[in-house]
Amino acid sequence: RNLKRHMECRRDIGTLNFRFLSIYESLIPEEEEKAKQKQLLTLLEKLVSKEWPKAQLFLYGSCANSFGVSKSDIDVCLAINDADIDKSEFLLKLADILQSDNLQNVQALTRARVPIVKLKDPVTGISCDICINNVLAVVNTKLLRDYAQIDVRLRQLAFIVKHWAKSRGVNETYQGTLSSYAYVLMCIHFLQQRKPAILPCLQGMETTYSVTVDDIQCAFFDQVERLRHFGSHNKESIAQLVWAFFNYWAYHHDYANDVISIRTGSIISKREKDWTRRKGNDRHLICIEDPFETSHDLGRVVDKFSIKVLREEFERAAYIMQYDPDPCVALFEPY
Ligand code: CTP
Ligand code: MG
Repeated sequence: RNLKRHMECRRDIGTLNFRFLSIYESLIPEEEEKAKQKQLLTLLEKLVSKEWPKAQLFLYGSCANSFGVSKSDIDVCLAINDADIDKSEFLLKLADILQSDNLQNVQALTRARVPIVKLKDPVTGISCDICINNVLAVVNTKLLRDYAQIDVRLRQLAFIVKHWAKSRGVNETYQGTLSSYAYVLMCIHFLQQRKPAILPCLQGMETTYSVTVDDIQCAFFDQVERLRHFGSHNKESIAQLVWAFFNYWAYHHDYANDVISIRTGSIISKREKDWTRRKGNDRHLICIEDPFETSHDLGRVVDKFSIKVLREEFERAAYIMQYDPDPCVALFEPY
């Protein structure tokens, strides 16, 4: 009887893996979409270089870190080596230039936390946010992209988690839940912690890539093609990992004391970071250390109401993964 139960269980996990993998595949952007993004970037480069020949444009965020699902907007960083530009003035001028080139809905949001110009390209239908000199975001984009090349299970897990977070309404920083960037860091950390580990800690290895941005030294091992077999001792499937991820955040993470840190590849203590009490608007109820801006807690947007929502969602997901015979329906049910 045990053998029979065991075989049934294996078959269920096999089916579930297949379901998760098809969801993952269906979310991957088509090549055509990537080509359109390139086309828009080329147009923007042309317009920007007319006015500012030394400026450079970089893609960052999900269109460049390999965690972007299809039909995402693109994030562009305009890097200009001029210490004393006035960002608002610059953005207004940029908006002017773009407006006169038939781009639609051009809007300068100069008062936002990260000031940007928003626009939509009528030719490709792609929307785009342009920020100025946010070079750290370009570097953390590279770090995430490098991690994604080590083991395909990271990209699979992160797609499933992001898809879950969007379906359940817990991917809204303005409502006190977490950014996509925070969820990807949670996935990387989780895979660094598996036994055997599925991901290494790139910032803890020999430095092969190093840049200094805003006085922060960003250094890590980036020859990831040499790490293709890193996770091969761990045979866990995507279904097992999704189950374990939600189980960790529902029942095993120590919210009172722990900070997750992909920089160190381990858990560090809130005490050590002085994140034990509320400071201004930063409550530190769930702590996710930024890999480069280490004073930056990606969980700082979470307040005493939204932490409850978030933890209930983790518990709901863990429950579904444990007991629902067909978890993919309930897991992604719109809230
Ligand atoms: N970012 C950051 N610090 C944050 C939030 C975001 O540095 N607190 C940067 C990261 O480089 C991140 C990018 O901004 O990759 C975009 O963030 P976000 O919109 O959260 O992630 P996307 O990957 O673009 O996700 P989505 O597919 O939901 O647009
Ligand atoms: Mg984005």
